[in-house]
Amino acid sequence: MKYIAILGSTGSIGKNALSVVETHADEFKVVGLAANRDVDTLEQQIRRYRPGLVALNDATAGEKLRTRIRDINGTQVLTGSEGLQAVATMPEASQVLDGMGGSAGLLPTLAAIDAGKDIAFVNKEVMVMAGPLVNTAVKTNDVNLIPIDGEMSAIFQCLEGARDRQADIHRLLITASGGPFRSVPKEDLYAVTPAQALQHPNWKMGQKITIDSATMMNKGLEVIEAKWLFNIELSKIDIVVHPESIVHSMVEWTDGSTLAQLGPTDMRIMIQYALTYPKRLSAPVPRLDLREARTLHFEPVDFEKFPCLTLAYTAAEVGGTLPVVLSSADEVVVAAFLNAAIGFMDIPAILERVMDAHVVIREPTLSDILEVDQWAKSTANSLIKKHTKIAIGNQPSAIS
Ligand SMILES: NC(=O)c1ccc[n+]([C@@H]2O[C@H](COP(=O)([O-])OP(=O)(O)OC[C@H]3O[C@@H](n4cnc5c(N)ncnc54)[C@H](OP(=O)(O)O)[C@@H]3O)[C@@H](O)[C@H]2O)c1
Repeated sequence: MKYIAILGSTGSIGKNALSVVETHADEFKVVGLAANRDVDTLEQQIRRYRPGLVALNDATAGEKLRTRIRDINGTQVLTGSEGLQAVATMPEASQVLDGMGGSAGLLPTLAAIDAGKDIAFVNKEVMVMAGPLVNTAVKTNDVNLIPIDGEMSAIFQCLEGARDRQADIHRLLITASGGPFRSVPKEDLYAVTPAQALQHPNWKMGQKITIDSATMMNKGLEVIEAKWLFNIELSKIDIVVHPESIVHSMVEWTDGSTLAQLGPTDMRIMIQYALTYPKRLSAPVPRLDLREARTLHFEPVDFEKFPCLTLAYTAAEVGGTLPVVLSSADEVVVAAFLNAAIGFMDIPAILERVMDAHVVIREPTLSDILEVDQWAKSTANSLIKKHTKIAIGNQPSAIS
C-alpha cells in the first residue's frame, strides 16, 4: 500500500489522480488533499476518501469547509501556505502528487522534497521558475521526481535504462497538438475569444494550461521544463507539431534511431505510471488500436504565428530569473484574457514588455525567485490596467 498526498486535488489532474487511486484501492491510499478554495469538490473528496489532513489556501473557504464536515471524525482542515506545506510534508505520505498549477506550487513542492517525499510531478511552472533549485533538492534528499505531464512522461519512458546517457541523445522531440488555432491564419487570432481558445482539440484540462496550449506557451514552458528534468542543453530540444496527440514525445539517439511513446489521450495513464514506477498496472482507459486506419501527421511549428514560443526560447537561453518572469507574468495575462480584459494577441505582447523591463539575476536564490515572481505579476497587472481591451476585431494589438 502506497500512501499519497495530492496537492491540487480539486483540479483536472487531481481528479484524474483520485480516479487512479480509486481504481487501485488495494495499492494506494490517499492521506492528504490540498486545493485553493473549491470547498464543494473538496468536501465530496473528503467524504469519499477520508484523508487525515486537508488544506485550503483560502482561509475563508477553509472555515466554510470546517463547518461543512463537522460530522466527520479524523480529518483535520488547515489553511494558508502553512496548511499546503503541512499536506506536502505529512509524515504519513510516502509520495506527493503535485498537481497544483502555477507558482503557488513552488514552496509546497520544495517542502515535500526536503521532507524526503517522492514526487509525482506535473507542475511545469515550478520547474520553469526554479529548475536548478528543484534538481539540487532532489539530489540532496535522494528522492524520485517522476513526471506526469504527457510529453515529459513520454521522454522519461523513452529514457528508461539510459537516464545518465545524455551524450548519446541527439535530441528530444517534444510533440505539440498545435492547439485549437493550428490552422487559423495569424490575422484571425486577434479576434479570438476565451470560449474559442478553451476548445482544445484533444485534451480536457484546466483553463490556464488550455489557454497556454492555444498560445503555444505550454510548449515553450515544456521546453524549459525538459531542459531541467532531463539535464539536457536547449539546442538538443525540438518541438514537432503532431495534431493527433498519439505520439506523446520522442528521443532521437546519436545513431539515428528514434524511440517514441504512444498512447491514448488520457492523463490517467501518465498519472498511474508516476505512482507505480517502475511497475506497471492495468488501467481502465480506452486502448490505442493502430490496426484501425490511422494517419499520424507531423509538421514544423510556426514561431511567427505563436510569438509565445520565441519568448519561451529567449527566456530559456538567457536563463537566470527570465523564465520566472515569463511564467509568473503568464499566469496574470492568461487570467486577464479569460476575464476578457485583454485580447488573445495581447498575451505575448504584454509578456514581452514585462520581460524587456526585467533586470535578470543570473543565479537566483529562492528568495530572489519569490521576489521576481511578485514583481512580474505586478508589472503585468499594471500593463493590463493601462492597456485594457486594445485588441478588438481583426486589429493588431496596440501593445505589440
Ligand atoms: N490538466 C492536464 O491534463 C494537465 C496536463 C499536463 C500538465 N498539467 C499541469 O498540471 C498542473 C495543474 O493543471 P490542471 O489542469 O489540473 O489545473 P486546474 O484544473 O486549474 O487545477 C489546479 C489545482 O490547483 C489548485 N490551486 C491553484 N492555485 C492554488 C493555490 N494558490 N493554492 C492551493 N491550491 C491551488 C486548484 O484548487 P481550486 O480548485 O480550489 O482552485 C486546483 O485543485 C499545471 O501545472 C498544468 O500545466 C495539466
